[in-house]
Amino acid sequence: MCGIVGATAERSVSGILLEGLRRLEYRGYDSAGMAVWDGELIHRLRREGKVQALADALDGQPLTGSAGIAHTRWATHGKPSEHNAHPHMSGTSVAVVHNGIIENFEELKSELMISGYNFSSQTDTEVIAHLLDQAIKSGADHLSAVKDTVASLDGAFALGVIHEDKPGELIAARQGSPLVIGVGIGENFIASDQLALLPVTDRFMFLEEGDIAHLTRDEITVWDINGEIVEREVTQYKHATSATEKGKFKHFMMKEIYEQPTVTLAAFQDRIQDALVNERAFGEQAAPIFDQVKQIQIIACGTSYHAGLIAKYWMEGLAGIPCHVEVASEYRYRPVVIQEGTLFISISQSGETADTLAALRDVKDQILASLTICNVPGSSLVRESDLCLMTNAGPEIGVASTKAFTTQLVCLLLTTLVIGRRFKITEALERQIVESMMLLPALIEESLQMDSDIELMSQAFAEKQHSLFLGRGTLYPIAMEGALKLKEISYIHAEAYPAGELKHGPLALVDKDMPVVTVAPRNDMLDKLKANLQEVSARGGELFVFAGCTQKVQSGEGVHVLGMPDMPEILEPIVYTIPLQLLSYHVAVLKGTDVDQPRNLAKSVTVE
Ligand code: AGP
Repeated sequence: MCGIVGATAERSVSGILLEGLRRLEYRGYDSAGMAVWDGELIHRLRREGKVQALADALDGQPLTGSAGIAHTRWATHGKPSEHNAHPHMSGTSVAVVHNGIIENFEELKSELMISGYNFSSQTDTEVIAHLLDQAIKSGADHLSAVKDTVASLDGAFALGVIHEDKPGELIAARQGSPLVIGVGIGENFIASDQLALLPVTDRFMFLEEGDIAHLTRDEITVWDINGEIVEREVTQYKHATSATEKGKFKHFMMKEIYEQPTVTLAAFQDRIQDALVNERAFGEQAAPIFDQVKQIQIIACGTSYHAGLIAKYWMEGLAGIPCHVEVASEYRYRPVVIQEGTLFISISQSGETADTLAALRDVKDQILASLTICNVPGSSLVRESDLCLMTNAGPEIGVASTKAFTTQLVCLLLTTLVIGRRFKITEALERQIVESMMLLPALIEESLQMDSDIELMSQAFAEKQHSLFLGRGTLYPIAMEGALKLKEISYIHAEAYPAGELKHGPLALVDKDMPVVTVAPRNDMLDKLKANLQEVSARGGELFVFAGCTQKVQSGEGVHVLGMPDMPEILEPIVYTIPLQLLSYHVAVLKGTDVDQPRNLAKSVTVE
């Protein structure tokens, strides 16, 4: 989704803004722009397409000045074009960048047009620039104009504003969309996330909902939703800056796939004590909350939803805890019955997904407590949940989620164990599962060695239009995740089915042009799965089966078996994810798509 960067400094800020935009590219966007105040006037440059197009334009027409704002736009209102790109201005006086959606913009636009304002874009953002101009012209100072304007907006937004009469000043506002302040020495910054500002600072202040901030080079003042001046804590960014570089890899996605042995370990190692899970890892309040849990409601979107589906098998199958899982965008818009003792678990890489956050806010008063499993410290879900378990995966830049997913699974397994102790999970079972988890990094490492075989296998997919993914039990959500990865980055239509559903419809699609990928469990479902494979084979479908040696699935005509390491059954969903990630990656590379920033997608979906 849209990315915001802003800076006020003694030095010229355009280089800082441009680098910030490059670092926000991973969020997904279709145009980019910048406005810089040069001591007298605001100069603006915008381009459709990549940040590089803006950089090329800046080479020919440099913007120099000590305060500025910049933006990558992911189109919502109005198609991607230079006119619709941010910053938006009202005349020459005020420039605005915005992330989010203004729901009442049509009404505001009509009123502004009656007052004589002309619009040069189809965006909802332009109303903000004109509202600011109108407020200032009617006598409000620059800051009150922002406060009044924000009060008239419905929807979710983060804003950055500069004004030509306010040398070196930057105003930021946050309501529903993420915005962080970077605290420098003699210079200060704003951005949609910390990654944008790492070259200039590692100290950050997270704005709360409804906050408005005024920044100069030397001072930051924050007002809360009630208009009171508040102190917001400054935190230090912990990850190494190399976490945001590709290193020896061609794409962030591949780098992140290869980080999984390390990050899955980081997701559990400090949380284990004497071969049992330490429940204090969930927060000081965790134990009394977990004592009262009667059921679990998991809410998430996309890949994080798939992690939730696997957790359901664990919560109900291992622990005997009733567990419901639903995508946030459905859950939040239907009347729901919340039973007493419900622990609401949100799962999210970014911690900013609009639907997931809204679902949490909607049910807050009706649930026992909320727990978030999240990868971004200081994100909205982390701040607004009662408990949190960080996935510790480090920044995930590739739009296609990989290491965030496997670390979510590790965290969900830890969660199952601590809550499950109060239900069916005995100490002996917990120790056995913890012992199995110790094998995880090595097993992931081993499955990464299949890389070159999978690269070869990817050739069978590159020219295809469709594909089918089958799984059973905990590997059914893994089939869903494999299909999602293939769709996202290689643009091949991929459908996932529980293998038992095959003859209830999808079998009609199977022919030589429909490769079928199967993840074969080592449990009592295996014989049933083998029967499903026969059904595909008999119809000329080409099968790719990921199975361990003990599964006894044989390669043959039209059946390609790719050997997985043997592993404890509990780890299968985590480890079987790896080859499917590699498959989607290699198919995308063969097709020449933009692996890290697939078309139309955004990393952090901050609008519904
Ligand atoms: C994953 O590959 C996708 N990019 C997407 O489905 C993602 O998982 C979804 O948008 C949820 O995001 P979140 O985990 O940040 O909440």
